[in-house]
Amino acid sequence: MLSFIWAEDKNGLIGANGTLPWHLPDDMKFFKKTTTGNPIIAGARTFHSFKRPLPNRQNIVLSKHGSFPDGVLVISSIDQLCELVDQYPGKNYIVVGGASIFEQLMDRVDRLYRTKIDHVFQGDTYMPKVDYTAFKQIQSLPGIVDDKNRYPHTFELFERR
Ligand SMILES: NC(=O)c1ccc[n+]([C@@H]2O[C@H](COP(=O)([O-])OP(=O)(O)OC[C@H]3O[C@@H](n4cnc5c(N)ncnc54)[C@H](OP(=O)(O)O)[C@@H]3O)[C@@H](O)[C@H]2O)c1
Repeated sequence: MLSFIWAEDKNGLIGANGTLPWHLPDDMKFFKKTTTGNPIIAGARTFHSFKRPLPNRQNIVLSKHGSFPDGVLVISSIDQLCELVDQYPGKNYIVVGGASIFEQLMDRVDRLYRTKIDHVFQGDTYMPKVDYTAFKQIQSLPGIVDDKNRYPHTFELFERR
């Protein structure tokens, strides 16, 4: 199974200067809880934004160049990645971005974990268009708003129909 996880603002913005446009620890906590124990797939730019491999998850990076820390599985094409995903149908491979990887895997994704942030930020990277008519919404839960989490946000789950 292939899933996407991402957070977007009111306009679908997801990135700014190679990093996230916001600070929202509640979403980071959700990301950690959802991805821990599952293999994660990142584009090279997104992987570099993590600074180090994320613990307790198999880290898979899509890249044609560049060197990565020991233990990271580097895959150099979408076809190779899809072969791997098809080989282990019982696993939940979670694509953690960025935009270029979401775009290339849009036709293949089974499940969407979307955090919708009710705010407009500045940035340069947007979520590619998702055809939500192909998905059914399973869940929508409000996140915590407090001193550390200033932007209202909702954790949504969609599954392909
Ligand atoms: N809000 C969110 O939830 C969220 C989630 C993820 C990312 N982001 C943000 O999105 C931005 C990064 O997104 P991005 O689209 O610029 O970059 P990206 O998708 O993270 O990485 C792009 C890189 O991935 C590699 N790649 C892409 N397609 C490939 C393929 N078919 N085969 C092999 N390698 C491939 C290439 O690396 P090489 O040049 O090494 O070959 C390419 O330069 C950052 O600002 C990040 O913080 C936000």
